[in-house]
Parts: sequence; C-alpha cells; structure tokens
Amino acid sequence: MVSQVSAETSPPNTSTSTGPGANPPGVPTTSITLTVNGSPHPLVVDNRTSLLDALRERLDLTGSKKGCDHGQCGACTVLVDGRRTNSCLVLAVSAEGSDVTTVEGLADGNALHPVQQAFLDRDAYQCGYCTPGQICSTVGMLEEARAGMPSHVTTDITNGEIDLDDEEVRERLSGNLCRCGAYLNIVPAVHDAACAHDDATEGATR
Ligand code: FES
Ligand code: FES
Repeated sequence: MVSQVSAETSPPNTSTSTGPGANPPGVPTTSITLTVNGSPHPLVVDNRTSLLDALRERLDLTGSKKGCDHGQCGACTVLVDGRRTNSCLVLAVSAEGSDVTTVEGLADGNALHPVQQAFLDRDAYQCGYCTPGQICSTVGMLEEARAGMPSHVTTDITNGEIDLDDEEVRERLSGNLCRCGAYLNIVPAVHDAACAHDDATEGATR
C-alpha cells in the first residue's frame, strides 16, 4: 500500500534525497516505508525506483546484486512476503506493506542460515556475485517444495510431496544464473540445506 504520492516534484537536497541514489530534482516522488529484514525504513523515492535500487542505493544493503536489471539472471533475488522475487522488476513503491528479506537478513545473529552454511560447506560459489541471489532463491524454493508446489519437471503432481532430486533442484533454480558455472556444487548445497531443515523440523516435533 502506498502511503502518499506527491503531485509535486521532489525538492532537491532534502535529507531523504541526498547521497548515492538520490532522487533527481524535478521528478515525481512518493513517501513510503519499506520493511526490510524486520526494520521499517521511511524513504522518499523517485516513483521509478526499483526495489533493488532502493535496497542498494538508499538503504546500503548491497548484498542483492544487479546482474542484468531485466529479470533474467536472478542476482537480485530477495524474498517479498516469503516469496522469491526479482527485485529489479519490482517498484519500491509497490513493496510498501510487504516484508522484504534480503541476504543480510537470513542469519540469526552469528549463526548462518542453513542455506548459507550449506553454500559455505560445499564451496558453492566462485566469484560470489550470484551467490546472494542463489541463496535467497534457495530459501524460497525450499518453502515452495515443502508446500507441495510442483515444477515443470515434477512427474507426479497428485503426491503432494516433492522429491527434490537433482533435476528438480536444477529446474527450480533455473532462474538464477551463475556465470562461473558453480552449479556442480550448488546442487549438493541445496540438498544439504533441505536435509538440515528436515532434521531441524523432526527435532522440533520429537
Ligand atoms: S538483476 Fe534482476 S534478474 Fe538480473
Ligand atoms: S559464483 Fe560467480 S557468478 Fe556465480
């Protein structure tokens, strides 16, 4: 929900429109509050600002990467209300009222998220540029699979349970490209993370 759209143009050099990613003078702006990693962030944004640019340029959360800026590489993947989303394709104004989680918000204090730990343990990256997007996408994908959401390669959609084999993992993460070709280690990392989650869930229900 957008709280306020100004009919006026943005004043130059206000405290919310200076620095990197500042709104150019003379463009329509909107006052919004973005909730990112559990914290509210009031912002005045150029209406054309993508969520990715708001995160990186206005909130200094540079974990989410800009690879293509066209929805084709997945480097900018974040979770919006738990669903994986290409933040380069979302306007910041439309993210108001949603909970945005970036790679910076996955760890629990010093304890890495199981997906982060699995990528580390499996050496599932080379340059690391795609890695934040791969990790956020994996977090969202594992939830989709646990909820029984089928993919293009799911053979039995009546089962309700997804067997996350290599083919499923590759298909479900096909929107996240790795120019270093680290896929060979990403797939086992995803399997490890899925097992870690299942073990944790079992332990909690014992
Ligand atoms: S930067 Fe968003 S999909 Fe490539
Ligand atoms: S690790 Fe380099 S692009 Fe994926």
